[in-house]
Amino acid sequence: MQDEDRDMTENRDRRIVLIAPPGAGKSTQATRLAERFAIPWVSTGELLRAAVREGTPLGRAARGYMERGEMVPDDVVIALVRERLASPDCRNGFILDGFPRTTAQAEALKAAGVTLDYVIELDLDEAEAVLRLSGRRVHPASGRTYHVVFHPPKVEGKDDVTGEDLVQRSDDTEEAVRTRLQVYRQQTEPVVAFYREWSARQDPNAPRYFRISAAGTPDEVAARLLQLLGSEKESQETASSPAS
Ligand code: AP5
Repeated sequence: MQDEDRDMTENRDRRIVLIAPPGAGKSTQATRLAERFAIPWVSTGELLRAAVREGTPLGRAARGYMERGEMVPDDVVIALVRERLASPDCRNGFILDGFPRTTAQAEALKAAGVTLDYVIELDLDEAEAVLRLSGRRVHPASGRTYHVVFHPPKVEGKDDVTGEDLVQRSDDTEEAVRTRLQVYRQQTEPVVAFYREWSARQDPNAPRYFRISAAGTPDEVAARLLQLLGSEKESQETASSPAS
């Protein structure tokens, strides 16, 4: 991990963490940024769901927690992320979506010497997040995400690229969503405070922390993010393109 970390400092601008409540649009924005900057999208939710689908020991251990909307134990997720960030494709940057979401995970990332450039909090009213989750449909194999009203697929119920069936996530039930929101308030909001305070200390190793609104269309949120990340021309083009 240490050797990989040294290589990862070559491009200091593209090690980004997105933090937000469930349904705020982390994955929607993370996949766009990953494509724009040609860096990998590292989503712990996606890594865990793949393990569940494949029936690996990790997947079997994680499944119950995920279906109930609870946190998968820290040691399991930390090991998963350490392994993923050590891959060669993460050397020039990455977008972490859904990690860290406990202070133990944030401390583990710091202790491993992983440099972060930006920690960006996407801020959204809970009622709006619930509305987004209730209409979400996903293509399990790719992680592509749709919404029945806000971002419908070209053909109802089918993935735009493969034509395969879209499904509703098993943790998008009313009860699991309520648990996920509560877990976010209790365990992930302290992570936001951790980065906000570290960033304010003017430590040269600290990531820059920003909070932006996740309200509005996906294009509007993407434009805010790109502006923040220094691509103002690109953000104007994105803002004026049709909603996706
Ligand atoms: P994870 O997959 O990370 O779920 P989450 O954090 O609950 O976030 P979501 O994927 O639900 O929402 P999102 O913010 O990505 O929104 P999206 O872009 O899809 O984690 C799942 C589970 O795995 C956890 O509960 C836990 O059990 C486990 N886990 C994962 N990481 C862990 C960790 N680090 N430690 C321990 N356990 C962990 O958008 C939502 C919907 O809104 C979509 O339909 C989308 O099309 C739509 N939409 C997006 N943006 C907009 C917009 N601007 N306007 C209108 N609609 C929009």
